[in-house]
Amino acid sequence: MVLWGGRFAQGPEASAIALSRSVHFDWRLAPYDLRSSMAHLAILKKNGLIQLTDADVILKALKELATEVSVGSFHAIESDEDVHSALERGLTEKLGTVGGALRAGRSRNDQVTTDLRLFSIDHMLEIAFCITTLQSAILEKAAEYVNDPAPGFTHIQHAQPVSFGHELAKHAQAFARDLDRIDDWLSRTSVSSLGAGALAGSSLDLEPIFTAKNLGFASSFANSIDAVSDRDYVAEALFIFAMIGNHLSRIGEEWTIWSSQEFAWAKVADAYSTGSSIMPQKKNPDMAELARGKSGRLVGNLVSVLTMLKGLPFAYNRDLQEDKEPLFDSFDTLFLVLPAISGMVATTDFDREKMAQAAPMGFSLATEIADYLAKKHVPFASAHEAAGKCVALCESSSRELHELTDVEFLAIHPELDGRVRDVLTVDGALNSRTTAGGTAPALVAQQIKVALAENMETQQEIASKRQAFSEMMSA
Ligand code: ARG
Repeated sequence: MVLWGGRFAQGPEASAIALSRSVHFDWRLAPYDLRSSMAHLAILKKNGLIQLTDADVILKALKELATEVSVGSFHAIESDEDVHSALERGLTEKLGTVGGALRAGRSRNDQVTTDLRLFSIDHMLEIAFCITTLQSAILEKAAEYVNDPAPGFTHIQHAQPVSFGHELAKHAQAFARDLDRIDDWLSRTSVSSLGAGALAGSSLDLEPIFTAKNLGFASSFANSIDAVSDRDYVAEALFIFAMIGNHLSRIGEEWTIWSSQEFAWAKVADAYSTGSSIMPQKKNPDMAELARGKSGRLVGNLVSVLTMLKGLPFAYNRDLQEDKEPLFDSFDTLFLVLPAISGMVATTDFDREKMAQAAPMGFSLATEIADYLAKKHVPFASAHEAAGKCVALCESSSRELHELTDVEFLAIHPELDGRVRDVLTVDGALNSRTTAGGTAPALVAQQIKVALAENMETQQEIASKRQAFSEMMSA
């Protein structure tokens, strides 16, 4: 069914229908469309804009349709243009012409963006929940390795030893920022557009704020032209998803490298690995690689919507119909990736011995010599120079730093005595990194404890928001 036609002498060509049609992808807005129709109906009824008896039968029919949609007994058909027209067909099939009464004061322009906001809020809360699950998997894994040293890298070169728990826990911080962005997004997205009509508002007494509250939104639009054209919340959601994808891709990259033969630090569980059709010995980290690979489409979806919005005239333009597929795709992608990566992280074991052995390699303790001298008030540039000379001497004589003699140390710098060997141990280096947020294991344990407590708190907040949303939907 289409919702127009009175002024047309000819129906649309098949190719025009095919291009216009969105019901095959916007059908997933159906539950939100029905719920927002109930809110619109409520204001029509409250302000006497509809016969009371009609209002009651329409409400009953909307509820029936909601059930039929959820069990799949009502669905879109070939002749439906979009979700809104399909559901109006459903109403008129039940009620005859009364089914068209809901169009009073409402356009698909304010309707579609209200539906999409509701859909996005509902699914964003689920994304947030999946992120907290991944975050707790990361933190619990990190807690297992707090006291295990490993080489820390810059430029993928051994830099300084770190607690491997510290190395893992860093990912939880990135996801904490994503959760923060989601929270911020939720408050900005909580605006209803109903009452904006096609673009200019309505001559009917629609009380947009009443409808907004009915739907659990914090506020209603301030400018009806902006209300029907604003898709910032779509672009912002897609940016958040691109960022989450970016964070997932960095986990993917690490897991891929760490499970390589050369590193052999990570033993990814069989349940999160795949084999090769030709090489029987292979066990590949495909989940990690897909986390890395899927980040491409998440970025692509953001770029696609920003490009569609750029230079678009205000109010409604049909280009806006292109907001949905990229958004849905990003949600779907994350609903696939997040659980798999949570499982992969939770079930990976790391080779403590191998990491500990590698920790001091590549003269990763050279900074300790410089810090030792700096503590004796040697200007850091000279201290750095002296430590560099120690490394050069070791390299040319195939020794480790702690194997240099007292005489050699003193020859390099008069303040460099044999006691420097006390700090030339991995444990000494780790335990001395006591700056807040540093890698000293005692601090890492504390960092993980705080992050786990925040994770629990966020999880509870999300659960109560999800509860409120589902109560609103079933009201
Ligand atoms: N299906 C459209 C969309 O997704 C909503 C319909 C508005 N159409 C219109 N011709 N005003 O954006």
